[in-house]
This record gives sequence, structure tokens and C-alpha cells, in this order.
Amino acid sequence: MSREVALFLRTLSERLDPTLLLARVVEAPPDPWQRQLLTSTSETIMVLASRRIGKSTTVGVMAAQELAKPRHEVIIICPTLAQSQLLFAKIAYTWDLIGLPIADKRRTLLELHLENGSIARCVPAGQEGTGARGHGIKRGALIYDEAAFIPDKVFGSTLAIAEDDAKTILITTPGGKSGRAFEMWTDYEDFPDVERIRACSLDLPRMAKTVERARRNMSPLEFKVEHGLAWMGRGTPFFDPETISKAYTDTPPLALGDIYAGL
Ligand SMILES: Nc1ncnc2c1ncn2[C@@H]1O[C@H](COP(=O)(O)OP(=O)(O)OP(=O)(O)O)[C@@H](O)[C@H]1O
Ligand SMILES: [Mg+2]
Repeated sequence: MSREVALFLRTLSERLDPTLLLARVVEAPPDPWQRQLLTSTSETIMVLASRRIGKSTTVGVMAAQELAKPRHEVIIICPTLAQSQLLFAKIAYTWDLIGLPIADKRRTLLELHLENGSIARCVPAGQEGTGARGHGIKRGALIYDEAAFIPDKVFGSTLAIAEDDAKTILITTPGGKSGRAFEMWTDYEDFPDVERIRACSLDLPRMAKTVERARRNMSPLEFKVEHGLAWMGRGTPFFDPETISKAYTDTPPLALGDIYAGL
């Protein structure tokens, strides 16, 4: 079989079953939640997921698959610039792995523009979402990575970006019990059309080692939030007060020796 035919067949099978590409990226079988997300036909999807479970990798696969379709666009909003760059690197890696003969028109640390007219952009949310304003997606997806850590003002100014056939996807670990992501997850009356997907590391045998390490290293509350998917109650401190107080101690006394500390 020629290389072109092999590439064609692989691309075709990955188009028909999007979980095959994810399996190739992670070199392991996709989890049930990843299958549900990648094959969903809902317009709005929210995924509540544990730390290190594969959120960004899965978003990278979704974005790369949109790029393969002509004139599709994906905008991914992340809380910070560093997270945007990291996520864009995953998209670019996955796009290159697909191996389609579609040339880049322009590639930066945050954007990829292709000859087929498709575009992927990772945008840091900032406080207002100004970096994403002015865009409109007719075919493709608007994705919020770590949505519980994105300010409500940003949702206010960016949710309208998804138009016509574009999907809106929020994926996140839990945050505080307020704000857009919390409401969308918990309020079935105001958000009746959201498909909700739960991705809990405690349910996955492949995560057992990561979970056990986290259980040893995190406070019980941190563990409940980051792995058990509990939203943080209002006024509940994320870090255990006892741990914080243990971090500040007068004994042994701070020995500055001859160093003049300017005090
Ligand atoms: N189904 C899977 N099987 C095995 N490994 C996987 C699977 N899905 C993702 N991974 C791996 O899990 C690791 C973490 O992935 P990723 O960074 O996407 O997780 P995350 O949930 O975004 O993490 P964080 O909470 O730090 O943002 C990566 O090494 C990725 O390849
Ligand atoms: Mg991530």
C-alpha cells in the first residue's frame, strides 16, 4: 500500500471514530468520558474533571480534528497566557501527528492558520476577555479550559462568539461555588440543554498511582476538590488552616548571621 493510501485510510478512520486519534496521542485506550466528549453531538457540553486526567490533551485532539475540516475555527480560552501556550503546543503536536498535507499559512505560539482556511487560537482570558472579542465562529468550537477559573466578565464578553453550527465546551476542575461554570454545572433549570460529563480520577484504574500520590501530598480538602470533584463551599479555605499555621514557626529562630536584612 502506498504512503498516500495509508494516510488516507488512517485519516478516514480517525474522522469516523475521533477516539482513534486520541488513542494514538496518548498511546492508550481513551476513557469513557473522553469517548463521550469526542463523540457528542450536543451544542453545549460541560466536563467536570479531576486534575491530570487528560483535559488539555482531549481538548487538543478536538481542536486538531476541527482544523482538518475546511474553514473551521476553534478558539480556546484559558485562564492564563502560560496555560494558553501549553495548550496550543498540544494542539500543534496533535495536528502534526494527523499528518495531513495541508500547509501552514501562519504559526505562532498561540495561533495556527492553515491553507484550508481553518484556524485554531488559544486566548488568555485576562479579566475581561478582550483578547477574544470581535471573533465569531460559524463552524467549529469555542472551548473554555479550566472554566471555573475564568472570570464571569470573560464569559459575558465571549459566549456570543459561538454562532450557527459552532459548539461551546467548558472543561474544568471544580472551583468555588459561584460563577458561570458552577451555575452551568448545577443549575438544570437555567441551563437545560447542557450535556454534563463527569470525569473522576477515583473511578479510573489507570489513575490509581496519581491518585494515591495526591492523597498523600494534598490536604483532605484539596484532594476532595481536585480528585473527588467537590466544589469549594463559600468561605472554605482551599489550604488547610493547620497546614498554613505549621508553615509559620518561630522555632528554629531565623538565623541571618552577618547578613544585614535592612530591618
Ligand atoms: N486515556 C488516557 N490514557 C492514558 N493516559 C492519558 C489518557 N488521557 C490523557 N492521558 C495522559 O495524561 C497526562 C495528563 O494530561 P493533560 O495534561 O491533558 O491533563 P489535564 O487534566 O489537563 O492536567 P492538569 O490538571 O494538570 O491541567 C498526559 O501525559 C496525557 O498523555
Ligand atoms: Mg490541563
